[in-house]
Amino acid sequence: MSTVANRGNWTSRFGFIVAAAGSAIGLGNIWRFPYTAGQNGGGAFVLVYLGFVLLVGIPVLLAELSVGRASQRNPVGAFKALVPKSLWPWVGLLGVLTGFGILAFYSVIAGWTLRYLIWAVSGQFSGGITAEQSGELFTSLVGGTTTPILLSGMFLALTAWVVRGGISLGIERATKILMPIFGVILVLLAIRALTLEGAGEGLRFLFAPDFSKLTVKTISIALGQALFSLSLGMGAMITYGSYLPKNEKIPVAGCTVAFFDTSIAILAGLIIFPTLFHAGASPGGGPGLVFVVMPTIFGTMPFGTLFAIAFYALLSIAALTSTISLLEVIVAYFVDEKGWGRGFAAWVLAGTCFVLAIPSALSVGGNRFLSNLLGEGSGFLDLQNIIFGNYSLSIGALCLCIFVGWRWGIPKALAEIENSGYRMQMAPVWGFLVRYFCPVAVAVVLGYILVTRDYF
Ligand code: TRP
Repeated sequence: MSTVANRGNWTSRFGFIVAAAGSAIGLGNIWRFPYTAGQNGGGAFVLVYLGFVLLVGIPVLLAELSVGRASQRNPVGAFKALVPKSLWPWVGLLGVLTGFGILAFYSVIAGWTLRYLIWAVSGQFSGGITAEQSGELFTSLVGGTTTPILLSGMFLALTAWVVRGGISLGIERATKILMPIFGVILVLLAIRALTLEGAGEGLRFLFAPDFSKLTVKTISIALGQALFSLSLGMGAMITYGSYLPKNEKIPVAGCTVAFFDTSIAILAGLIIFPTLFHAGASPGGGPGLVFVVMPTIFGTMPFGTLFAIAFYALLSIAALTSTISLLEVIVAYFVDEKGWGRGFAAWVLAGTCFVLAIPSALSVGGNRFLSNLLGEGSGFLDLQNIIFGNYSLSIGALCLCIFVGWRWGIPKALAEIENSGYRMQMAPVWGFLVRYFCPVAVAVVLGYILVTRDYF
């Protein structure tokens, strides 16, 4: 069994922030945020989302980090260490299971981004393609059989290869290379998009709130998006926090990560909406937005091919630094609790996720039964998202708030947060949010999705 001392650590605050921001910043920011904002009315949705990041996201993030650093364990071991002989470790186990579940469908979508990157490099979009051709390209990719499976396998192999290297030499080193590249591409793309004709209309859509568009449904989606985007509710941040040195200031590190995550979702909006409005496309295009609509636009703009390559490289990198964190949660559990070697754990567990990803990969048209499991056009991948991305994450976040707020207790959590001699000025506000506001907000959303089946 690995001892606390030899589990590995981030080598610096920068190392932790890049890795944790890498986890948070993912398809959730660049693929899911723009299309959900687009479908839910733009500006008003964005405001509610920002509110939830502040009032729920950051408090829960700090709670997860404090549990992780206090115990220096994976999610299961963390609960075991903080409250021995209780049922709490089951919450950690739910997190580990959720890691498998999310990774299994996330890697399928991540696989598509790789294919689009290869297409972009080979000039597929440079001549300009029509909306119809683009739709066909997408449908034939996702509705295939071997290609989507192979792509998700490639993505998982890449993920395992990084996680196998450990905390500082694997995850920290890889994310330190990938995230700066990501940042540069992102800024270049935003400049390109904002200088397109018609960009102003896109900005208005993203920032001018129309509160008549707000419903309970959009509010619930905004909270779900805030949790998912910050990688909360399954112990990913417990795990990353467990490698934080004791002298790090948790609130500073946590707020920096949340700041980057949120800014990058907004920046992704600054790329996508001006581009959409420039081309006269509808912002409500749904999940196909970045795969179907964007390619039709690349061909018609100056340096479109470069723009396309940069855009899909951006998506692939974002996805990779997130799948790394999902796999790390599972690997940490088997390494800490079951005594597995890290390399062995990384490959075997990524292999297991690959097997679980196969039905997902086949469920977007490849196999008729799997594709229509929940009714016309709603298949196994959607089911995975509902079970793991909606229910599991909300239940996990709710339990974590109850744990930190009521069981382990705010005083102990604060003692961990402030143990570097640093005083958290907002401590009373944070305690209130973790004890009352966050669990109630998450419980309301959980009740709402249970009753209405309106998932995020
Ligand atoms: N936050 C990532 C995104 O926005 C996805 C992700 C990575 C995640 N690790 C997670 C979501 C843990 C929930 C829990 O794409």
